[in-house]
Amino acid sequence: MNIIKRPRRNRRSKAIRDLNSELSISSKQFIIPHFLLAKKNAKEEIISMPGRYRLGIDKLLKEVDIDLKLGIKAILLFGQTKDAKDKSRDGRQAWDPNGTLQGAIRSLKANFGDDVVVITDVCLCAYTDHGHCGFIQNEKIVNDKSIEAIAKIALSHAEAGVDIVAPSDMLDGRVKKIRTTLDKEDLEDVGIMSYAVKYASAYYGPFREAADSSPVWGDRQTYQMDIRNTKEAIREAKIDEEEGADILMVKPALAFLDIIKAVSSESSLPLSAYNVSGEYASIKAAAERGWLNEALVVRENLYAIARAGANQIISYHARDAIEGRWL
Ligand code: PBG
Ligand code: ZN
Repeated sequence: MNIIKRPRRNRRSKAIRDLNSELSISSKQFIIPHFLLAKKNAKEEIISMPGRYRLGIDKLLKEVDIDLKLGIKAILLFGQTKDAKDKSRDGRQAWDPNGTLQGAIRSLKANFGDDVVVITDVCLCAYTDHGHCGFIQNEKIVNDKSIEAIAKIALSHAEAGVDIVAPSDMLDGRVKKIRTTLDKEDLEDVGIMSYAVKYASAYYGPFREAADSSPVWGDRQTYQMDIRNTKEAIREAKIDEEEGADILMVKPALAFLDIIKAVSSESSLPLSAYNVSGEYASIKAAAERGWLNEALVVRENLYAIARAGANQIISYHARDAIEGRWL
């Protein structure tokens, strides 16, 4: 038969397009990051991330209430020292049971119980005076001493009542160290979302301003991954799965869609993709100048991440996308 094949029939109206769509993203798949400040009622806009704020606990509780009402159930929390001068060589304030982050976990759980999934970033870089994600000896990041501290941080979050800890240091063996440390204290219900596949990316720039966590010297290339590599991603994902991770993460998302796809086909664990600060900031900056339609571009990016195989999306756009019905 010589008839014209007509795929356009399936695109004739919005209702037909919706009926034929292969994928949808629900608010429940979003994880929204929040940055903490020690001062209870502080709210400071992050200059390089317009529309996102550093929040004291009183303001955080208000924001999380809004997130939950919008259907966003999971938050990723980032802490800092109480004061910039509290940064130290070993970053000890990171595992202080009375630290800002530990206090926020307790308040969130007291206020919202299991309605909210509290996930905490576990790292040293916002607490060390050198800004690296591990301990330093002779200008090198030492692995095995550092992961003991990383596990101590995770334990302090778990004892405060966190649902899931998310180690972001990219040192070797930390998932296993955290799992055994938590299990020894009967905290076997606390989950681990591993930043398993985290590249040494230039897209983290705005975040480092937000969290005040830039390395003072050098860079993170001896621990974060080489952007040229795919097989290394599979190896990292497999190791973290074997060490006991419950959820794997790939980060950043947009420049690494092929990696999301590859990891999702190699592992049966739930997969999170982190749509990072620089990806957010680039769109905000272009949209402010009227060079891009923010809603449409964000929609396109979020569906790309979902199509690649992410079950969960960590994104600073989450609130806008749900509130604005961009999806
Ligand atoms: C800390 C950490 C970083 C991010 C999440 N946790 C920064 C880094 O590794 O330098 C980046 C998040 C973002 O850019 O949105 N280790
Ligand atoms: Zn770090």
